[in-house]
Amino acid sequence: MTTKKSVTIYWAIIGLLLLTIVGLVLKFVVLGRTGAAADGRVTILLEPSERAVVLNEMRQFLVGIQGMLAAADRGDAAAIAKIARPLGMAAAHNVPAGLAAKLPLEFKTLGHGVHEDFDRIAMDAEAMNDARLSLHQLGETMKKCVACHATYQIAATPVAVR
Ligand code: HEC
Repeated sequence: MTTKKSVTIYWAIIGLLLLTIVGLVLKFVVLGRTGAAADGRVTILLEPSERAVVLNEMRQFLVGIQGMLAAADRGDAAAIAKIARPLGMAAAHNVPAGLAAKLPLEFKTLGHGVHEDFDRIAMDAEAMNDARLSLHQLGETMKKCVACHATYQIAATPVAVR
């Protein structure tokens, strides 16, 4: 084989590898595993156990928000911080890698945004001791809950995979 020929083959191999990497990043980081829902939302397709992990986290959000509202009503910023902290980025790191690969990038971005907000709410409640500020921040954060729910649903059974 001439040198020129083998160089061409090397480049072809490098090109194929790069394409594969781009494809994998697209699939596992950007697109996730999704289909279309009857109500126009994007359906994320998860194993039943993975769906349970996500929904469990969601219910913790709801429990936390209820607790923070009650604490804000008492003007108890310290209690708000205590409830918000475990909902912060520390919780996000518990998500298994296999599950993360099935979530679209926009979903992960919104989800991270909510966790970061809870860290901020905890930090500010502790630093400023102002329950009204916490209430305002909670209202802003909940726009992300609303936005994500308007866009996505989760199905435990595979439908039209895209
Ligand atoms: C990144 C997207 C995203 C964000 C952000 C988000 N959710 Fe969800 N949530 C979902 C999806 C998707 C479902 C499943 C809905 C479905 O399948 O119809 C869900 C379901 C839920 C459920 C139902 C849980 C169950 O057991 O069925 C609750 C409660 C909930 N979310 C609360 C919240 C609250 C409160 C927030 C904000 C603090 C929030 N979520 C933020 C995507 C999100």
